[in-house]
Amino acid sequence: MAASLGRICRSGFLKSNNGSLFNQSSQFSTVKDWSRSRKAMVSCLGVAVGGVGALIYSLEQSVKAFELIAHPPHYPWSWEGFVNSLDHASMRRGWEVYKNVCSACHSLKFVAFRHLINVTHTEEEVKAIAEEYQIKDGPDDKGEYFMRPGKASDYIPNPYPNEEAARAANNGAYPPDLSYIVNGRHNGENYVFSLLTGFCDPPAGISLREGQYFNPYFPGGAIGMAPPIYDEVIEFEDGTPATTSQIAKDITTFLMWTSNPEHDERKYLFIKTLAVGIVLMAGCYWMKRHKWSTVKSTKLAFIPKKKQQ
Ligand SMILES: *[C@@H]1O[C@H](CO)[C@@H](O)[C@H](O)[C@H]1NC(C)=O
Repeated sequence: MAASLGRICRSGFLKSNNGSLFNQSSQFSTVKDWSRSRKAMVSCLGVAVGGVGALIYSLEQSVKAFELIAHPPHYPWSWEGFVNSLDHASMRRGWEVYKNVCSACHSLKFVAFRHLINVTHTEEEVKAIAEEYQIKDGPDDKGEYFMRPGKASDYIPNPYPNEEAARAANNGAYPPDLSYIVNGRHNGENYVFSLLTGFCDPPAGISLREGQYFNPYFPGGAIGMAPPIYDEVIEFEDGTPATTSQIAKDITTFLMWTSNPEHDERKYLFIKTLAVGIVLMAGCYWMKRHKWSTVKSTKLAFIPKKKQQ
């Protein structure tokens, strides 16, 4: 487009304008030399591609309208924006929520205790937390596996030995691993918060099976997880009132961190990049003005010779 525009400007407009505008434009046409059949084929191809695109779009739209599902609202999370870090006090409470509530069923298998050091807890606190857990280790010199207290380098143990055991204990539903749940669900943090706070009685006409609960934010509505949190289900060590929404917000912030452990570093890097970038941009601008000043302040004049008479 730009190239052809340039071509028109350079050759077309500077030449004397003999023919009509139509003739001129047909001179620049790239399809002028094409045969009729080739033109027809290209047209058909265009129509077909457009049609397939429209079909895919309409299917996509119809799939969206198909499920009866409540879309979570957008909540004003504290980490939103280009320069806001995660709320580490909230993450520390979120760890308490995971440990006392979620960890009964959900694993956090990609997080090690050491990851919490200097993020939510000090090194000593993390060592103490890890020692509360029993970790399966081995084999020892007799070839047997044994349990030992956890170390900071251990990964957080799974509440079930395998998926089958997890399903058997939960009416056939498999509690997903929570390490990357915020990134793994559409509308991540808003979904997690809405799901945790959104349990309600099923509307008329919907019957749930034994061990199922109704949650409008869960695809299909019937969820195998009982409402996990309610007011005062735990007590926060920092004295924050443990309301349902406070607990849901803290665990969501914590899970946001487990899904995006590089979050704070990424934003810090952005600030540094911006600072360096501004300096470099200013330098580039000055350089450009400097280098171009000769060119820009040069005046070219074309004075035709007078015709000899
Ligand atoms: C945690 O922070 C302390 C103090 O800044 C530092 O000495 C220590 O090396 C850090 N530990 C880790 C694992 O980053």
